[in-house]
Amino acid sequence: MVLQTRFIFLLLLPILFTTGFASPLDVAEDSSNVRSEKVSAKINKLFDMMLPSIHNFIQTHGLDPLKLQDLSEKLQGVIIHNRVLNLTNGWLQGLSDVRRANDIILSYQDKVITVDATLAFDVVDANYKYLLKDLLISKKGQVRGRIRNMQLRIIIELDMKNYKLAVPMAKIINVDKFNVIFEGNKDDPLMNAVAKAITDIFRTTIINIVNQEFSKEMKILVDEINKKIPRPDRLFDYSNVWHYV
Ligand SMILES: *[C@@H]1O[C@H](CO)[C@@H](O)[C@H](O)[C@H]1NC(C)=O
Repeated sequence: MVLQTRFIFLLLLPILFTTGFASPLDVAEDSSNVRSEKVSAKINKLFDMMLPSIHNFIQTHGLDPLKLQDLSEKLQGVIIHNRVLNLTNGWLQGLSDVRRANDIILSYQDKVITVDATLAFDVVDANYKYLLKDLLISKKGQVRGRIRNMQLRIIIELDMKNYKLAVPMAKIINVDKFNVIFEGNKDDPLMNAVAKAITDIFRTTIINIVNQEFSKEMKILVDEINKKIPRPDRLFDYSNVWHYV
């Protein structure tokens, strides 16, 4: 598998340094405990080289376009008639247009290799059909949102003690702007009254879904890789490599 090769590539940091794919950040020495020695490097060039694969991963794993789950929420009205807001036919687009938000850091400490990456998505569009209904009314239309500069931080760890890969974090950490517009029933006073509630539900839902879906797909990928990592007793000890950094 190509990915497996890529991870072995990541382990060969000294080669990355000499070829200029990585630059050393810090080498903190702690003479009292050799094992806690931490080595960090920026791997921006390597990451940028991998961007087409990341782009491809996002598309083939159904993340762009991403189908959004249907949602049904009870809303409070001035007169409460079991007012319900249903969001259906939801789609999110733009997650495959991804770039590096800042430095990608590869580090090694206590036999754990960590990649800390923040991905940026310049423009992501989301839309749903909404239906607002109670005993007396029934309103429908489209609700559209545009998210600018959404950033997702992903931390991947490879534990060299048991050769297991894990994803401790895959989470949206920044959104610059999230504009929401309604289509249909624009000048309706009732719609204006509930617009904020719909907007809030819409925003929260989108952010939660992106967090969930990214975590889910990363977990599937990591499980796949974990199955393919050779058993430790058949691997040579990569920890020796770090003494040459
Ligand atoms: C809203 O969605 C819920 C859950 O899917 C469904 O039971 C309900 O019938 C829907 N309401 C309307 C008015 O479509």
